[in-house]
Amino acid sequence: MDHYAVFGHPVAHSRSPWIHARFAAATGVSLCYRRIDAAPECFETAVRAFFAGGGHGANVTLPHKHAACALADVVLPRAHTAGAVNTLMVLPDGRIAGDNTDGTGLVVDLVDNHHVALAGSRVLLAGAGGAAAGVLDALLDARPASLCIVNRTPERARALGAARDDARIDAGGFELLARAPAFDVVINATAASLDGDTPPIPAHCIAAHSVCYDLAYAVGGTAFNAWARAHGAVRVLQGTGMLVEQAAESFRLWRGVRPPTAEVRTRLDRLLGAG
Ligand code: ATR
Repeated sequence: MDHYAVFGHPVAHSRSPWIHARFAAATGVSLCYRRIDAAPECFETAVRAFFAGGGHGANVTLPHKHAACALADVVLPRAHTAGAVNTLMVLPDGRIAGDNTDGTGLVVDLVDNHHVALAGSRVLLAGAGGAAAGVLDALLDARPASLCIVNRTPERARALGAARDDARIDAGGFELLARAPAFDVVINATAASLDGDTPPIPAHCIAAHSVCYDLAYAVGGTAFNAWARAHGAVRVLQGTGMLVEQAAESFRLWRGVRPPTAEVRTRLDRLLGAG
């Protein structure tokens, strides 16, 4: 049986074993996927021991995505530009490769699952930490007309934008939004939701047609979801679909087959009372 794991700290809450068990059943394979809680100082040793012991592939979650990027022998381009790895796999020659499926997961969820027209749209990305960096390039590849990055610490947003040298990007503090018209797509990549808080996006940035997506998720929806609804947005989404799609993309990298995701997404949404 092939062995997989998710490394995190803490990791007890991770739904990845449940998701990958559904994927395995749907594609008719049997595999073992477990959680490995590794403190930062033990992370590299734990990963190397896992692969030395015959592990096939691993996911990496907080706080290890940067460390995983540093330890991988080969870093795939989209993980390199994000500076973060969420998927590890062993190459035929024994080297460990790192990739990042978070951005693809988000774009697949928006475009394929929710039929959001990212191409030609005006996109607002709130946040400039690891989560924002992980999805930025996939968003740009989806050909938005413009992409505004705002962050509580403006320099972090400007640094993230400047690293791309892309004329569609405008980046800075939330004050950039003072006179901005409503956006077509508003993505919350800040960690505010984790504290039940919302980023200071002015209400006029949201209109009825705006799609408001929180990368985080919570039972009953996040604080940002509630805020967006209260300000008139009709299409309000949280990151459960992205979670399932990034997992499907990892599964494809490991096994060469992309598993069906619809049933898993529906079940997860039901579990969280969001569907
Ligand atoms: P992650 O990997 O989850 O992105 P991170 O790298 O620590 O975590 O980044 C957290 C992001 O959420 C940052 O953009 C942070 O803003 P700062 O760069 O100014 O710290 C943002 N953030 C966290 N709490 C927030 C809040 N209450 N309001 C607005 N932004 C917040």
